Amino acid sequence: MKILAIETSCDETGIAVLEFAPLGTEPNLNKPKILFSVLSSQVDIHAKTAGIVPEIASRIHSEILPHFLIQVDQKIGLGNVDYIATTSSPGLLGSLLVGNNFSRMLSFLYNKPILAVDHIMGHFYSSFVKLPLNKIEFPALGLIVSGGHTALILATAKNKFKIIGGTRDDAAGEAFDKVARLLNLSYPGGPAISQAAAKIKNSPFKFTTPMLKSNDFDFSFSGLKTQVRQTVEKITSNCHPEQSEEAQPASSYKMDKKIRPVKSSLPEESMRLSNMVKSQIAFAAQTAIVDSLVKKSFSATTKYHPKTFILGGGVAANQLLREKLITELSVIMPKNKIFIPELKYATDNAAMIAIAGYMGLPKNITAWDKLETSSSSNL
Ligand code: KG4
Ligand code: ZN
Repeated sequence: MKILAIETSCDETGIAVLEFAPLGTEPNLNKPKILFSVLSSQVDIHAKTAGIVPEIASRIHSEILPHFLIQVDQKIGLGNVDYIATTSSPGLLGSLLVGNNFSRMLSFLYNKPILAVDHIMGHFYSSFVKLPLNKIEFPALGLIVSGGHTALILATAKNKFKIIGGTRDDAAGEAFDKVARLLNLSYPGGPAISQAAAKIKNSPFKFTTPMLKSNDFDFSFSGLKTQVRQTVEKITSNCHPEQSEEAQPASSYKMDKKIRPVKSSLPEESMRLSNMVKSQIAFAAQTAIVDSLVKKSFSATTKYHPKTFILGGGVAANQLLREKLITELSVIMPKNKIFIPELKYATDNAAMIAIAGYMGLPKNITAWDKLETSSSSNL
């Protein structure tokens, strides 16, 4: 069975075709085969504005998709696929609509049903792009951490999901992005923060681990952002207040617009220190975010005793999170039951959408004129 998957929920345009064993066959054979996979990232374009401009994202998806589909047609034949899996929620509405309209058109032209996929489910299954799908044993617990979502999801069976914890404000990836902005690091913030943090082994700064004492599985990251902002403000206001703003070198601290302007400059010798301080703040912020994610995952695992633990979402690319999660969870569950996606499949891609489409069968089969697009998740 071949599934063509289309992912356009945010700023990555992805198309993949995966081949699966027919439903109901010996599960050990049920290892997907990637027949085609392409991904085009808009990160460099959105880095210029330090964030995504939705109209530009949609426009780029609509320019790129036809080229990718022509490639699929030449290599596999668009008429040779059995289903069209498409991310129909959540995400940027305009971006989702581009992918969904292409899917509707293909479904109509080739008479192939659509599989409506929730993007969060794509991340949930992203560890299994190259693994036999029977490795997922239920109940399975998933920590999905991306730029838009942070959720602990309990799956009691293939299509039975319950969100047992979520974020009360910023998503984990959003927290990385916002802290990076405060430190004038590049977009997206997650990789920039972890690169800055990797330059040092310890930090004199310490931020409170968010929601550590709450008795639920919820997260909150806006307080951390405030702590970082206040720390940056304090350091920069102590820094040569007598010098004028015009004298600032380009690499001195650039503050978020909401922070009062800083009449200070960093002299030549302290430019090195500024990078060091950035690394130290990045290190402390990363530690607080990761600790919060790991601690809540640990408590949820203790309570629900899942047979499988799954990490997913762009933040799953974070090395510290990957390491700490395995170290902590392997104390209470077998290491080989903890699944972490390959770096390539942690961030948005279409292969994971194909897996989620397959796993959602037959519940998710949708006629082209019944497909509903939504910016919020249907979970
Ligand atoms: O899943 P994803 O590609 O897109 C969404 O569905 O949102 O996740 C993007 C998020 C961004 O916030 C980015 O900063 C974060 O994932 N991210 C990371 C790392 N790589 C990407 N966060 C922490 N550490 C990383 N290495
Ligand atoms: Zn995503």
